[in-house]
Amino acid sequence: MNITPQTTGKFGVVVDGFDAATASAADIAALKHAVYTDKIAVLKDQDLDPKAFLALGSRLGTPETYYEPIYHHPEVKEVFVSSNVEQDGKQVGVPKTGKFWHSDYQFMPRPFDLTLIYPQVVPTKNRGTFFINLCAAYEALSDELKAAVQDTVAWHSVRRYFKIRPTDVYRPISEVLDEVDERTPPVSFPTAHRHRFTDETVLYLSEGFTLSIKDSDGREQPELLRELLAATGQLDKGFEHEHIHLQTFEKGDLLVWDNRSLVHRALHTATTEPAVSYRVTVYDDEAAA
Ligand SMILES: [Fe+2]
Repeated sequence: MNITPQTTGKFGVVVDGFDAATASAADIAALKHAVYTDKIAVLKDQDLDPKAFLALGSRLGTPETYYEPIYHHPEVKEVFVSSNVEQDGKQVGVPKTGKFWHSDYQFMPRPFDLTLIYPQVVPTKNRGTFFINLCAAYEALSDELKAAVQDTVAWHSVRRYFKIRPTDVYRPISEVLDEVDERTPPVSFPTAHRHRFTDETVLYLSEGFTLSIKDSDGREQPELLRELLAATGQLDKGFEHEHIHLQTFEKGDLLVWDNRSLVHRALHTATTEPAVSYRVTVYDDEAAA
């Protein structure tokens, strides 16, 4: 196994010679260490069926099944399916997922620690995912903004981007939203908090899921939220901000990223091309390598 810095984009490493079936504990530890410090690892030349993909996730932590069943792989429920390709005339998984800045499960009491994405059908053009490293974004803040986020909390909800399910058709939208708020009430975390394994400070907010920032007196700070989102690059509609990294991939690549410190956003274009991706998300309770 060989880990080298990526030559394209702004961060991340490439991992050559990784065999999920025979990887040693030391290989897994080295991989996790690279993910924490370099944020994204691209495992090259992978050939895994859904069960083997889940097995790899189990080596990195404890897989968590997505709370909405419409995303589940029909045979391996822990595998989340993003797909615009019908199989035998049936929609499998959900199309056009993640077309907004977010961190996976940021709206839940416990967001995922690591995300693994394994593209199955790769579009021929405009493929890729945008990422922003929220640790680097915090470091780049002005002293004034760093001081302003101290002692604030950020509130997150899936409300604005909840995907209407087939069973929701003809339901009043207010009823659907009430159900969303009941099942997944807003959660809060300190806006700036320490990364458990790297000691960096994570500026934990996203354009898609963060509803508000509140100061220590509970007052909402909408202007501060807007300034922070702008400073991280999440309001840049042209995706040219210095913090934005475009992660490209090809068939056989398997991406592992540090969901604690990254926000990401799918690159979707006006012309729809077939695209299918499998995802496994894990909690990494054990100590870092
Ligand atoms: Fe995502």
